Amino acid sequence: MLLKWYEEHKRSLPWRDTKDPYRIWISEIILQQTRVVQGYDYYLRFLERFPDVFVLAAASEDEVMQQWQGLGYYSRARNLHAAAKVIANMGHFPTTYEEIRALKGVGDYTAAAISSFAFGLPTAVVDGNVYRVLARHFGIFTPIDTTTGKRVFRELAQQLLDEQHPGDYNQALMDFGALQCIPQSPQCTDCPLANTCVAFSTTSVDQLPVKSKK
Ligand code: ADE
Repeated sequence: MLLKWYEEHKRSLPWRDTKDPYRIWISEIILQQTRVVQGYDYYLRFLERFPDVFVLAAASEDEVMQQWQGLGYYSRARNLHAAAKVIANMGHFPTTYEEIRALKGVGDYTAAAISSFAFGLPTAVVDGNVYRVLARHFGIFTPIDTTTGKRVFRELAQQLLDEQHPGDYNQALMDFGALQCIPQSPQCTDCPLANTCVAFSTTSVDQLPVKSKK
């Protein structure tokens, strides 16, 4: 169902036309704290200047920072450059979740994204969109910003993952949250998942997801 929805609604984005882990890594680091509309041009320019990890590793810190100018959160650029040197020394982009997770600046979300998008590994991504879609669809009131909540949602996302198509499934779930199951006033009347959505059937859509802290 979700994959069918994705086929019809997926956003055409440059980092979705590639399996190159380097390109996917760059896109995910940019998109960690930057919106798609703002990150789009930076992504294209960054790849034009640093087309692969060896070029990036060989560049000066100054030039990397210069390309990042305006994006903010500059530790992202410093970590990216440091990690590029590590990868260049390895001779190839790491291919397992654990190795990818060990790179500077790569957390659980980004490691799962690169693993599934580039390598087709069955690792579920859990971002804000995923929390919202799962909390509503399954009627989960556990706060998402607690240790228990994080575990509950991570385990559920991992269970639901389509292991035949982990990359597409992950992007489908994220796009579904970004486009259909939006934070405020989602259009549930034309939602393809409304018939199985616990929050919709109990009119609690606007109460989910729950956060413990304000
Ligand atoms: N935000 C973070 N990663 C993304 C992706 N791969 N596509 C669209 N938005 C994103």
